[in-house]
Amino acid sequence: MNPVKVGLLGLGTVGGGTANVLRRNAGEISRRAGRGIEISHAAARNLDSTKADMTGMKLTEDAFEVVNDPEVAIVIELIGGYEPARTLVLQAIANGKHVVTANKALIARHGNEIFTAAREHGVMVAFEAAVGGGIPIIKALREGLAANRIEWLAGIINGTGNFILTEMRDKGRDFADVLAEAQALGYAEADPTFDVEGIDAAHKLTILASIAFGIPLQFDKVYTEGITRITREDVAYAGELGYRIKHLGVARATDEGIELRVHPTLIPERRLIANVDGVMNAVLVKGDAVGPTLYYGAGAGAEPTASAVIADIVDVVRTLSSEPATRVPHLAFQPDALSDKPVLPV
Ligand code: HSE
Repeated sequence: MNPVKVGLLGLGTVGGGTANVLRRNAGEISRRAGRGIEISHAAARNLDSTKADMTGMKLTEDAFEVVNDPEVAIVIELIGGYEPARTLVLQAIANGKHVVTANKALIARHGNEIFTAAREHGVMVAFEAAVGGGIPIIKALREGLAANRIEWLAGIINGTGNFILTEMRDKGRDFADVLAEAQALGYAEADPTFDVEGIDAAHKLTILASIAFGIPLQFDKVYTEGITRITREDVAYAGELGYRIKHLGVARATDEGIELRVHPTLIPERRLIANVDGVMNAVLVKGDAVGPTLYYGAGAGAEPTASAVIADIVDVVRTLSSEPATRVPHLAFQPDALSDKPVLPV
């Protein structure tokens, strides 16, 4: 069978990582998918400054060319941000293409519109890489915990912020200095205020809560506080008292509604989650049947994020031969069975 042709939008950190891992592990990946996968087309804003190995790809600086190319079956959106990502993804869907995205901002803000369009056109939209980098937390919530009533979840879901807090504590480094390193390592968002003001974590919490509780995506209702006001002294004093400062995203179901908040917290240092350091992420999920579960791994970076992107490509390729009506809905609950529980003011 011919390989499935994939079009990549964005050849930055994650785009380059995706191309590398797909090439390096082509044998394993195609045996899992049941078919070869080929990045046949790729778009980047400035091809001259792109460092990714683009051998064998049809290249353009106009992402719409990829989205409109009849050869492309799956569009991989790795541009990030709200626009033009939203327009490109909707156009891809309208053209009958499946979409894989790592874009949490896009899913958190425009996911309701995007999933509606995807259903209308019978295509899949997968977004494992949008939360927790390489940790398969979306699949765990959607599939592994499908028997459970989720009571709460709490996690370190921004790698850049956790890297900053860890370096401030362990090495007494300056906030700005560590942030600059996180940017150089490709961990931070294009606009790093998204990382340090809690917005990126709020995007991710919106997505996790939607899957965990079967509620529509409601980014605007998340209480959001970042780490910009935390000083080296705060981190040091917390340590003297036996605590670590961690930036958490918390979603909790109560009888009245759902609580959604991201903010710094003090956690006793004997707790597992207090010892999640550097760019690592961890998400605790409490289900009524399974009890507490913990998911841990690299929350940002080229190849960990590529790992999740490619898992979604494999998922889509495996499902291609099934009827649209039987495809797994990527928001876990059936669209006509969403909960109308309100998100509570915090
Ligand atoms: N800027 C994000 C982070 C990238 O640091 O967690 C991964 O979503």
